[in-house]
Amino acid sequence: MIKGAIPLKIAGIGYSVPSTVVTNDDLTKLYETSDEWIYTRTGIRERRLVSGNETAIDLGETASRDAIEKAGLNPDELDMIIAASSTPVEMYSMSCCIQKRLGVTKPIPAFDISAACSGLIYGLSIARGLIASGMYKNILIVATDNNSKHLDWSDRGTSILFGDGAGAVVVTASKDGTDDIIALDIQADGKQGGLIELHFDGDNCPLVKPNDKREPKIQMNGKGVYTFVVKLLPNYVDELIKNAGLKSENIDYMVPHQANIRIIRAVQERIGISDEKVITNLEYYGNTSAASIPIALVEGVRNGQMKLNSNVLLCGFGAGMTWGGAIVRLREGIC
Ligand code: COA
Repeated sequence: MIKGAIPLKIAGIGYSVPSTVVTNDDLTKLYETSDEWIYTRTGIRERRLVSGNETAIDLGETASRDAIEKAGLNPDELDMIIAASSTPVEMYSMSCCIQKRLGVTKPIPAFDISAACSGLIYGLSIARGLIASGMYKNILIVATDNNSKHLDWSDRGTSILFGDGAGAVVVTASKDGTDDIIALDIQADGKQGGLIELHFDGDNCPLVKPNDKREPKIQMNGKGVYTFVVKLLPNYVDELIKNAGLKSENIDYMVPHQANIRIIRAVQERIGISDEKVITNLEYYGNTSAASIPIALVEGVRNGQMKLNSNVLLCGFGAGMTWGGAIVRLREGIC
């Protein structure tokens, strides 16, 4: 940490998922596939999807309320909202919609970031800098995605993977001098952007030459993503631990982005930690983008797999391509 910087406390974490379950067997009504094919390649058996008029704003509101309550704050004590969403319902600011829903009465800054599935770690990095500088004290980071509205539901190579959900983290200026962020790093490589794309081309003005249009749906080169990430992420995470002056035995738990169980196992093998220390729930939720880490984290604690007062490694990757990792300290009572 930079000398004089204000340390950060992770004060509360919450999540929300839709109640509607769509299983791998259900997907066989859309295209030729099977539970066995999907499960063996990804580790996913079912996902939760928004239904009717439910949106990522509803999920984001519920997750935010959960995190704010655990932080022991009321919404008016927040002084910034950052929403991480790569499949927004409202391009002009999911964070403002959530600010309104939470009933925040003050004109606190609210803005969105994307960074796709790395959005939560990117948001944490931004919040860390703003808290360290003393500019802000209580920041809500809410990661919320309704991927299901942006998928091509005839594309069996991509639509099998994703689910909808939201996760939220409240971070505050630490009053006891302890910094809950032991290490934090974010990276990107735009040259790999073609691996996962979601175009919003729009239409040129009718008075000028029309533009070419591409399908505004998530398009993914699954094998390409897999190969890129399996080569990159295990070494990256290993370096993150070493650069923090730690060894894998100092990591109590790993909460990875829930994209594919084979990618998770590759990271786990590289850093050499046992299955009980690795939190996975993609079997039930699929890949919920930026929400996947906080959802897994809270569930890991609430179902007793994770003990608090522990060091936890978070790591994720997503479209862009973006990736990031953090080693955080989880205090009692935060979720
Ligand atoms: N059911 C049955 N068959 C399917 C299928 C499905 N849902 N999806 C694809 N197939 C078929 C393909 O058509 C192909 O058939 P062919 O050999 O006759 O052409 C075959 O299965 C192999 O397809 P391929 O795309 O090479 O499969 P794969 O082993 O790479 O697995 C993924 C596909 C998507 C599961 C895998 O690549 C993956 O998980 N990648 C990572 C993606 C990811 O994590 N994205 C999120 C980023 S945040």
